[in-house]
Amino acid sequence: MAATGDRLADSKQKLLWCGRLFCVPDKFIRYHHKRMAKYLVTGAAGFIGSSLVRALLERGEQVRGIDNFSTGRRENLSEVLHRIDFREADILDLEAMHQACAGVDYVLHEAAIPSVPKSVLDPLASNRANVDGTVNVLVAARDAKVKRVVYAASSSAYGDTPALPKHEAMIPNPISPYAVAKLASELYMVSFYRCYGLETVSLRYFNVFGPRQDPSSPYSGVLARFSMQMLRGEQPTIFGDGTTSRDFTYIDNAVSANLLACAAPAAECAGRVFNCATSQRTTLNQTFDALKKLTGYKGSVKYGPERGGDIQHSLADITQAQKHLGYKVLVNFADGLRPTVEWYKNQARTVEA
Ligand code: UD1
Repeated sequence: MAATGDRLADSKQKLLWCGRLFCVPDKFIRYHHKRMAKYLVTGAAGFIGSSLVRALLERGEQVRGIDNFSTGRRENLSEVLHRIDFREADILDLEAMHQACAGVDYVLHEAAIPSVPKSVLDPLASNRANVDGTVNVLVAARDAKVKRVVYAASSSAYGDTPALPKHEAMIPNPISPYAVAKLASELYMVSFYRCYGLETVSLRYFNVFGPRQDPSSPYSGVLARFSMQMLRGEQPTIFGDGTTSRDFTYIDNAVSANLLACAAPAAECAGRVFNCATSQRTTLNQTFDALKKLTGYKGSVKYGPERGGDIQHSLADITQAQKHLGYKVLVNFADGLRPTVEWYKNQARTVEA
């Protein structure tokens, strides 16, 4: 499928040829091509990937997306699927990755099995998708001479070091196999910059939430899960005593961090790692209270045993991203929670109808 940008550029070229054959400003055509960067989003049908696809299309960029639908959903791309060059492919398929990277300027690598408990149950699957898959993407991006790869790294790399807030110079201390895999891939990012000069930027996401985050699996993010459960009148369970805290980051902030990571000068960001968060933390008890107001849930919460592999507290220092990427928190936790719950309300209505 030809990408939108290609079609636009082609039709523009034809127009110019029809109008003034001898005055075609070749420079303009090249400029036009130059402005339309081509982006490959891996995990394009996932929650973060599909949000990136929409943001890129809004900016008029050409988008190619790949997903193997292991955790992503076709519905996440429903109204934009025809506007992108979408390929159903697995990041473990090196040949498919070579094809996907051909002609691409930027790769936003979001494809992963993004779950701490899943990785505890099946560390091999986590390692395959989250490490082997990443190395494949990097090899393909290197071979295709992609300008830059931006990677969905994870705050779980910090592990249970007691110091807060977490800053990038801290020695990582991962607990779960998932955290180890995400950290290993981050190091591969750095290695590919150092060994091959492929520009890479890793963004350590801190609990990203928002519309389209899948609420339906036991491995779903806590905000997606609680929102849906409480809207249905089902009792949510807090693992632990509820004092566990997270730097919940609304999706718009993560999208903006990715776009900034593509645009920042290499001297500021290539081969580096940045926290992507809000620098505010909320406990699970506070989260439940906030969701109670927004969902109208009248019941109580249940407390269960702590989950293996979990970390207790997570809070980011975002100074480096602010300084080197020009990152700003666009939407705070409370402001992000409202549209998120609204989206789940609409989903619940659609299912009922
Ligand atoms: C999340 C992301 C992970 C990301 C990491 C760092 C998900 C599924 N995982 O992991 O990809 O790398 O943040 O940004 O989004 N909890 C409950 N009840 C529930 C579900 C969860 O109490 O029903 C608790 C968990 O035990 C944990 C906290 O909520 O203490 C957050 O869990 P979760 O949303 O799964 O995220 P992380 O494990 O922090």
